[in-house]
Amino acid sequence: MTDAKQRAAAAALAHVSAGTVIGVGTGSTVAHFIDALPAARIAGAVASSEQTAARLRARGIAVLDLNATGTLPLYVDGADACDPRRRLVKGGGAALTREKIVAAASERFVCIVDPSKRVERLGRSPLPVEVIPMARELVARTIARMTGGTPVWREDVVTDNGGWILDVHGLVIDEPEALESAIDQIAGVVSVGLFARRPADVVIVGDDPPWSW
Ligand code: A5P
Repeated sequence: MTDAKQRAAAAALAHVSAGTVIGVGTGSTVAHFIDALPAARIAGAVASSEQTAARLRARGIAVLDLNATGTLPLYVDGADACDPRRRLVKGGGAALTREKIVAAASERFVCIVDPSKRVERLGRSPLPVEVIPMARELVARTIARMTGGTPVWREDVVTDNGGWILDVHGLVIDEPEALESAIDQIAGVVSVGLFARRPADVVIVGDDPPWSW
């Protein structure tokens, strides 16, 4: 999959304008994008995780505070799954909350994926949910009752925000927007890794040659 991720990342460079400040996501596909980014001569980037911030700095790219940038023209990020309407499941790297924030602050969201991420219906990959630690069991019980899915605590992970992650297995997601809203409203949920109310604007698949829709 490395080649496919690299191809998708390289194709995303065509969306980047010199001199702009862009949002940058998290994960192995985005890592290829960051490695290629110095050639695009951007003014700086807002990072969706500490991991991404470190990689950007290592490539000589200034990392800026979202509170100081205003609206960003572009956000580039990967996904764990993507449906035909560009609705996504994200958070495999536990960065979903900051990813959602930077996506919300951006005019255009370009998602870069390898071909394995394309699905007809979301739910095959587990759905990550970031929770306030004291609410872990409450949120897990509520989601199990609400969806029939099985939340599993990702015990070895603490997010950049000090939160914990539940991965909800066994979901069939027929109405992603409704499920996103319902999970968002559970007390103790920080954010859910469904990007349905704000889907990607473009998805680039790293086939050979890459293509997008
Ligand atoms: C990070 O929290 C995720 O949302 C990633 O964007 C997603 O897991 C895709 O990761 P890869 O690019 O490593 O497949």
